[in-house]
Amino acid sequence: MKATLITGASGGIGKVFARRLAEEKHNLVLVARSEDKLAKLCNELMDKHAITAHYVAIDLIDFEADKRLYDQTESHGLEIEWLINNAGFGSMGDFARLELENEIEMINLNITALVALTHRYLQQMRTRKRGTIINVASTAGFQPVPFMATYAATKAFVKSFSEAIAEENRLHNITVTALCPGPTETNFFDAANIGSDAKNAFLKRGMQTPEAVVEAALRAVKGGKSSVVSGWSNYLTARLGNFVPNSIITRAVAGVLRPKFEEKRQIEQK
Ligand SMILES: NC(=O)c1ccc[n+]([C@@H]2O[C@H](COP(=O)([O-])OP(=O)(O)OC[C@H]3O[C@@H](n4cnc5c(N)ncnc54)[C@H](OP(=O)(O)O)[C@@H]3O)[C@@H](O)[C@H]2O)c1
Repeated sequence: MKATLITGASGGIGKVFARRLAEEKHNLVLVARSEDKLAKLCNELMDKHAITAHYVAIDLIDFEADKRLYDQTESHGLEIEWLINNAGFGSMGDFARLELENEIEMINLNITALVALTHRYLQQMRTRKRGTIINVASTAGFQPVPFMATYAATKAFVKSFSEAIAEENRLHNITVTALCPGPTETNFFDAANIGSDAKNAFLKRGMQTPEAVVEAALRAVKGGKSSVVSGWSNYLTARLGNFVPNSIITRAVAGVLRPKFEEKRQIEQK
């Protein structure tokens, strides 16, 4: 049976992808850690859209989780025609003071799991000569971001990797798209322990809904684009890096964020 696999489908952008593609009659494999949320969503989508929806509750950071997930879809005879690598998280703070384990786990989820799943499912897509892969990057991946150093670097990787393999696979009838959302109304900020100050700053700038992000992604896939920034203002901000050197951008971003972290450090030291 043909199916679409979505990682990080228990909430936020991934959940909206699931709802939207169920409307288009995609059979689904939904992946995340929260089994209860996945089970509920599967039932809802099967009832509403007469599709088949499986879920796999798994921590993609675990050793060989990608292999276990792949083996499960194989043993159920599922042909993954669409792969949406969406699971990811961020962190914010002075890198030297962030917890190392969390930074490494972020790299393992945002990069290692994404590369491993892409490699595994690409083999089948090559054989069938068709497939769609959406890798969720971020506008944070367009330039270095002080105080979100690791996260922005993981997303720069996702964007670069996806654009490169998009070209490698173009002649194999496989579309690969790096989806680059800006700030979006999801649980991302809470999951990343981004304080209310920073969250409010993003809120003031205006956040997109996950629905708008998913529509931008699906339009880009239809147009065969190797990357897309969702939203015009995000597009313009992301493109700033084409005209302004990184040294100036990083100084400006740090100018805003450094005082917040200095203040926090001083309070903690008292
Ligand atoms: N929201 C934004 O402002 C924004 C902007 C740009 C890019 N993005 C990117 O968009 C993607 C989706 O994030 P979101 O905004 O929808 O955030 P979210 O609401 O926090 O959703 C993250 C999803 O990833 C899953 N997940 C987290 N850790 C996991 C793990 N170890 N193994 C398996 N699944 C895991 C979560 O489910 P469980 O907790 O159930 O595992 C959840 O379904 C991420 O890659 C993020 O970097 C977000």
